[in-house]
Amino acid sequence: MAQLEAQDLAQAVIDRMADCKEPRFKEVMSALVRHAHAFVSEVKLTPEEWVTAIQFLTDTGKMCDEKRQEFILLSDTLGVSMLVVAIDQAKAAAKHRPKPGEKPPTEATVLGPFFWPGAPELELGADIGAGHPGTPAYYRGRVTDTAGKPVANCTLDVWSGDGEGFYDMQKGPDAGMQLRARFRTDKEGNYSFWSIRPSYYPVPDDGPVGKMLHRMGRHPNRPGHMHTMLEAPGYEKLVTHLFVSDSPYIESDAVFGVRDSLIVDFQSHAAGKAPDGRMMNTPYHTCSYDFVLVPKA
Ligand code: BEZ
Ligand code: FE
Repeated sequence: MAQLEAQDLAQAVIDRMADCKEPRFKEVMSALVRHAHAFVSEVKLTPEEWVTAIQFLTDTGKMCDEKRQEFILLSDTLGVSMLVVAIDQAKAAAKHRPKPGEKPPTEATVLGPFFWPGAPELELGADIGAGHPGTPAYYRGRVTDTAGKPVANCTLDVWSGDGEGFYDMQKGPDAGMQLRARFRTDKEGNYSFWSIRPSYYPVPDDGPVGKMLHRMGRHPNRPGHMHTMLEAPGYEKLVTHLFVSDSPYIESDAVFGVRDSLIVDFQSHAAGKAPDGRMMNTPYHTCSYDFVLVPKA
């Protein structure tokens, strides 16, 4: 029989994949078709709403270029990116069964659109915040594995917006790299560097995703955070942030990336001698955080 009833359409689409040679692709596409049909049936999508949705996706695509990825922003603001991160981390944790007394691995969070590969590698203790808006902040801590063994020679790629919430990539074509660098832990797994205490800022909200957030009655802001990506041979790569504990929006991150274990009290200090011996003639902050990596199975 050629005719298909509404309730049979999803299964008919799935059945057409009988000759598909890629089991995982088939599994993902079958679930996508099932859920898409269930969604349309549940909300009884009208033809006008369907056209609006198609126009929204078209506008989202048109907003994308090498610097702007509106689809990732859509995924971020709908909590999908964070769900993918959480599933991936749970998978890695399941492969590495912690022994009693071992440290829990540092939690991962979203990569975001402002990672720029190839940041300069600098000496430990270098200052990447000098000359940029914001209060100076000294970041320090250790990288260990779950058993507490120091991870030497671990690369920490760090990047953040400035103290007014702007990333270098948002400052025009000539700005170049700012407030980003790579550091390598020493033999004891120690890292340290100076930057600024990051401010909260809105995710790019001048496109279709911004309009969607507005219609949803949502704000576009993320609490202040320092991004970091840690890579060391023999360990699972970690993409995470350190969140400023008293930042606005810490309870309502627009991309749902906050994990309690990543919230840090930035201690404030009057001008004077900093922990690395540097004489500060302005007030500054310190941020202490130890990262825990999972050994590769
Ligand atoms: C960010 O952290 O910079 C970011 C993350 C997700 C979406 C937009 C911005
Ligand atoms: Fe960010």
